[in-house]
Amino acid sequence: MSITEQQIATSVLVIGTGGAGLRAAIELAEQGVEVLALGKRPRSDAHTSLAAGGINAALATMDPEDTWQQHAADTLQESYLLANPITVEIVARGAARGIEDLERWGMPFAREADGRISQRFFGAHTYRRTAFAGDYTGLEIQRTLINRAVQLGVPILDTVYVTSILVKDNTVFGAYGFDLTTGRRYVIHADAVILAAGGHTRIWRRTSSRRDENTGDAFRLAVNAGGKLRDPELVQFHPSGLIEPENAAGTLVSEAARGEGGQLRNALGERFMARYDADRMELSTRDRVALAEYTEIKEGRGTPNGGVWLDVSHLPRETIMRRLPRVYQTLLELQMLDITKQPIEIAPTAHYSMGGVWVRPEDHGTGVDGLWAIGEAASGLHGANRLGGNSLIELLVFGRIVAEEAAKYSIGRQAQLRSADAVAEARAEIDDLLANDGPENVRALQRSLRDTMTARAGVVRDEHGLNAGLAELAELDERITQVGVHPDIAGFQDLAHAFDLKASAMAARATLDAALVRRETRGCHNRSDYPELDDSLQVNFVWSGPGDIRAEQIPPIPDEFRQLMRHVSSDGKLVE
Ligand code: FUM
Repeated sequence: MSITEQQIATSVLVIGTGGAGLRAAIELAEQGVEVLALGKRPRSDAHTSLAAGGINAALATMDPEDTWQQHAADTLQESYLLANPITVEIVARGAARGIEDLERWGMPFAREADGRISQRFFGAHTYRRTAFAGDYTGLEIQRTLINRAVQLGVPILDTVYVTSILVKDNTVFGAYGFDLTTGRRYVIHADAVILAAGGHTRIWRRTSSRRDENTGDAFRLAVNAGGKLRDPELVQFHPSGLIEPENAAGTLVSEAARGEGGQLRNALGERFMARYDADRMELSTRDRVALAEYTEIKEGRGTPNGGVWLDVSHLPRETIMRRLPRVYQTLLELQMLDITKQPIEIAPTAHYSMGGVWVRPEDHGTGVDGLWAIGEAASGLHGANRLGGNSLIELLVFGRIVAEEAAKYSIGRQAQLRSADAVAEARAEIDDLLANDGPENVRALQRSLRDTMTARAGVVRDEHGLNAGLAELAELDERITQVGVHPDIAGFQDLAHAFDLKASAMAARATLDAALVRRETRGCHNRSDYPELDDSLQVNFVWSGPGDIRAEQIPPIPDEFRQLMRHVSSDGKLVE
């Protein structure tokens, strides 16, 4: 071995420096447990900073009738019964505490004149329960968490790409990675690892994730460590992604635009939601709005660029500037479009992985001893349709819980076995990639993979397309073995992209496999060959490797929540 490896030891290692990772790290530090947080992009620019419109908790500041039980009921209802009721209860019950923590650390929530936290409507919530900071909510949360982590002296290395989680006999003992600038290798020994490295939505062509974010790396790390995935086919297509410019295709226009009264129109000027959900119109659920848009476009009522119009120009300019400042700014910057005067051309965009790493509902343990997963990397809360605003609250609630669990686990360890073989394997994986000088280009293969997923597993899927996707993926897998990896003076990004590519290929395979066996239409998952919801498929699908899928039963919904759930018909949802 010629290359120097930096050896580091800590009690708990957190992989990911977005909101979930930081919240966990803060809890560990507050409990006096040694923690190290690693990230692959600058902490101030983590994906959480893109989260726009808000964070949910039944604070009842605007609508006194709201309760955490109603929040739980809305979440379960809109998950199309695929959310785990235990997870849902923990999040809804713990949400107010999550907001209090943020307030204590200085989060600048929007407030009413009398000082109450303001709450806005988001789609499919019974009451106004989404707290916000303009449409920069995620950015403000990220800043607040960074400040708190700095106060506590949490060490953060945000130029480290983790290539594998180190495991001996189904028990974690650390992670292996490299520095993105210098290429220096790291062996990090840890009692416990918390995986908070995001989802897999960047494997679609139009996505609200930027380059190199949400490439499925958390999924790969977990599966290679012995974990499993749950419902990877359940991906939320947000109704409002920008179409242009191509290099920013999918950039999010916050749902807050609809929440504040934005209207959707097709090319004929019709408010088309009247055809799909006349009661809730633009405040319908994301899956319904995305599918409605898809249908309008497919049936020829779309705009020339293949989208629909989202119009906020009828709102007072002051409302737009105060409540939607990011949308205003983004459109000016990307399209030189003034949304106070002109409508925005949008189309569905891959936005959120509702499935993810399999975790226990109570504590988000992965079944691999010493390994937890949280945030978008994990699964269980959202089922087949996530309520906007639930992801930010989940990471606060479960960030705290997994940290408590990891702290207990670390403190209780008597001894820990390591494995030189596991370290050697991790080292060799990097060596092999660096030695590769094949003709294939990583970026080009990433593009092909994204094209496949867009064509074969987009808003609407069918068996023929999904099988074709698997065949295309098999060819891609072959080409991936032929990539040339070329770190240069600028750094080792090309190596990171190669690992991202492997991760994306695994995430794509899991998605296609699971989408094939979910022979029904439910929430975000629209199968044109199975247009009805199938009650017998009210199960989660657990993926343990190519073609290896089993159904998992979901615990019953407690009466307390069931009584609060409204029936929303999905008859004729897939209007094709
Ligand atoms: O539309 C939005 O502002 C996104 C919020 C979310 O995904 O929770």
